[in-house]
Formats: sequence, structure tokens, C-alpha cells
Amino acid sequence: MPVKLTWYGHACFLFETGGSKLLTDPFLTGNPLAPIAADAVEADYIFVSHGHGDHVGDTLSIAKRTGATVVSNFEIQNWLAGQGVEPTHPQHIGGGYDYPWGRVKLTIAHHGSALPDGSYGGNPCGFLFYLEGLKIYHACDTGLFYDMKLIGEERIDLAILPIGDNFTMGPDDALRAVKLIQPARVIPIHYNTFDVIRQDPQAWAKRVRNETAAEVTVLQPGDFLQI
Ligand code: NI
Ligand code: MN
Repeated sequence: MPVKLTWYGHACFLFETGGSKLLTDPFLTGNPLAPIAADAVEADYIFVSHGHGDHVGDTLSIAKRTGATVVSNFEIQNWLAGQGVEPTHPQHIGGGYDYPWGRVKLTIAHHGSALPDGSYGGNPCGFLFYLEGLKIYHACDTGLFYDMKLIGEERIDLAILPIGDNFTMGPDDALRAVKLIQPARVIPIHYNTFDVIRQDPQAWAKRVRNETAAEVTVLQPGDFLQI
């Protein structure tokens, strides 16, 4: 069965796999490019990569409305549980877990993770999803790191990488990331949401096509891809 990935802008994706809906970093309210309202989103699981407002986003309201299981690092999971979110599932960096629909492993990310109220959000992470025989690496917010090469050794079918610069990797380092990971396909994210992360994804795609073997898919918020 193919996996359907819909981009809701910024770092927010809906992965639909075997009847399950997995949502990542649901920042919709306050995102000028969000193609859907938070109260219209469906989810069975929500993944939160770190504590910043543009990633925790609408997690509380979506989780409470849908009853979705929220997966995050231990510290954020604890914070969410304290806000009345249930069920939750804590994981931590380097750890994988087998869910009914596939496996998820948390990867390192170089970034911050303070929660919106100033609470400690632990270390930020990325996610490696194992769905339907596919390996999808969602780097979330991070700078470039050489251990991306280790992630690439798993043979990544799709890498989802930030290119916005300022808060995360910019286009140059994201291109270097593609060279370290060597994914079959790459999707750029975390750009143009705010002026400070304005980028030209098509120009970046051209560079990736010229310098690597990866296929690049540039999505518009609301677009989907089946792999
Ligand atoms: Ni962040
Ligand atoms: Mn961010």
C-alpha cells in the first residue's frame, strides 16, 4: 500500500498509511500559509519534534478533539500529559518503537526545545518513520550534522529537510545534508512561513538535481505525494 503524504506547511505533514493518520508538528493557527484549519485536521497519532511554538502548535487542541496519541520526547510528553493530553507515548533519541502501523525512531537534531510557557522541553529530535517498507526521515528543525551520514546508511527513501536558514539549515547546508544522507527523494520544508526564512525552493531543487542523484519534490502547502 502506498503512503500518502500531505504537506500542511512548515514542518507539518499528514502521513496516511494503512488507514492510520499520522500528523507531525501541527502548526496551523498563526501560520499564514496553513492550507487547513486546526479544527478540521484528523489524526490518530501526533508527533512533536521539539517545544517551540511553531512545532507544538495546535497539538493540545487537536489531541483533545481527536483523542490522538501524542508521541514526543519524555520531557514534552510529560508536559502534554500535565495539560490533560492523553494518551501520550514518550520516546527518546536513538530509541525506536513498533506501533500498529509501523516503527518510529527518534534521531538527534541540533536546535533548542523550550516549551511555549518556558518549561524545559528536553532535547529536540527528528523522526525516522518505517512505513510500508519505506524509510522516511523527517529532520524537523536542525542544523547540519555529520551523523546524517549514519542516518543515510539505513537507505532513506525520502528525506524531509528544512531549507529556511536563520533557525535551521539554509539551502547550502541542506544541499550538503542531501549529499550525506543520499536519499532517493527529498522534500524541502520550513521556508517562507515568515519573512526571515524566505527561500526559493525551486532554485534549491535545481542545485540538488545538478549535484546529487536525489529526486526533489517541491510541494505547495496542501499538496500531497504518494510513495
Ligand atoms: Ni524550532
Ligand atoms: Mn521551527
